[in-house]
Amino acid sequence: MKKVGFVGWRGMVGSVLMERMIAENDFADIEPVFFSTSQVGQAGPDVGKDIPALGDASNIEELKGLDVIVTCQGGDYTNEVYPRLREAGWDGYWIDAASALRMQDNSVIVLDPVNRQVIDQALDNGIKDYVGGNCTVSLMLMALGGLFNEGLVEWASSQTYQAASGAGAQNMRELIAQMGKIHGDVAGKLADPASAILDIDRQVAATMRSSDLPTANFGHSLAGSLLPWIDKEMENGQSKEEWKAQAETNKILGRSNNPIALDGTCVRIGAMRCHAQALTVKLTKDVPMDEIHDIIARSNDWVKVVPNNKEDTLRDLTPTAVTGTLGVPVGRLRKLNMGNDFLNAFTVGDQLLWGAAEPLRRMLRILLE
Ligand code: HSE
Repeated sequence: MKKVGFVGWRGMVGSVLMERMIAENDFADIEPVFFSTSQVGQAGPDVGKDIPALGDASNIEELKGLDVIVTCQGGDYTNEVYPRLREAGWDGYWIDAASALRMQDNSVIVLDPVNRQVIDQALDNGIKDYVGGNCTVSLMLMALGGLFNEGLVEWASSQTYQAASGAGAQNMRELIAQMGKIHGDVAGKLADPASAILDIDRQVAATMRSSDLPTANFGHSLAGSLLPWIDKEMENGQSKEEWKAQAETNKILGRSNNPIALDGTCVRIGAMRCHAQALTVKLTKDVPMDEIHDIIARSNDWVKVVPNNKEDTLRDLTPTAVTGTLGVPVGRLRKLNMGNDFLNAFTVGDQLLWGAAEPLRRMLRILLE
């Protein structure tokens, strides 16, 4: 049985990973060892079998004894520990949720329902580093990977609606706290049917702009508003999140040398953990809509085509419908006025499942095959 070390299993992505691994009985097939940066020697989590006490996540000698390391600890940990481990001669598999190693030549971005061939080729070539992709990119490819893999995408532009969870657990708490503060400040007026809506609106705007609103994490009001910038500034005017769309999509598809152009605007909105995105796809040819539906629907077991009508869309194609599930609905599929080779699409996916934890646990399973 492979000895598999887990680091960062207590954080948000790590906790979702643990839940999924328990649900799929993954621990039955490995010898798990849990590590900590702060609670070394204490008892590990209950995963349905006996496990040793928590190891030291920064002890290279301890880590060297593992066949596989799965880390959700974050980029700082990867940058600090990974090079030391490799320098010490460790030859095991490194599976990482953080972006630190994503664009390295000797790493593969894992999303096996879309790029299993790329993964298999890398395993044959002795590649040892497997990294989860950016959540927005992974969810876009879970939805539309069929079109990419059939060579039907000339370029695509995405406008995203990204949930608070992508920024972190504290940000999710802050979003709710902001909502509560905004509501609290107008609760009296709201309860009075005779109050004027413009008075309520003025108070809401005042609360959103006030220094009393909790903004330690987002820096601004997200509740009642949106934030059209995610991650760092790049020199070309893109945000880093926008830059990742083209860079990571092409790396996932194994075509970085012949990239498909992807670009758009990434926006944080007040959803909890589902990212949504509206896409304009320039097709390489005029493909009939029934064929497009078919290609998308059969590309993996989780994507679901939502018929382009109001009732199905509002029932099935929202963060509320999708949150906490592995389904990746894609809808609003129609040709645009620009021409029959321009496709409109809208997709929603859980940012913590297919956007983070699920590709990692599946990569571990691939190593056990
Ligand atoms: N960068 C993403 C976001 C999450 O901020 O929503 C991680 O992929």
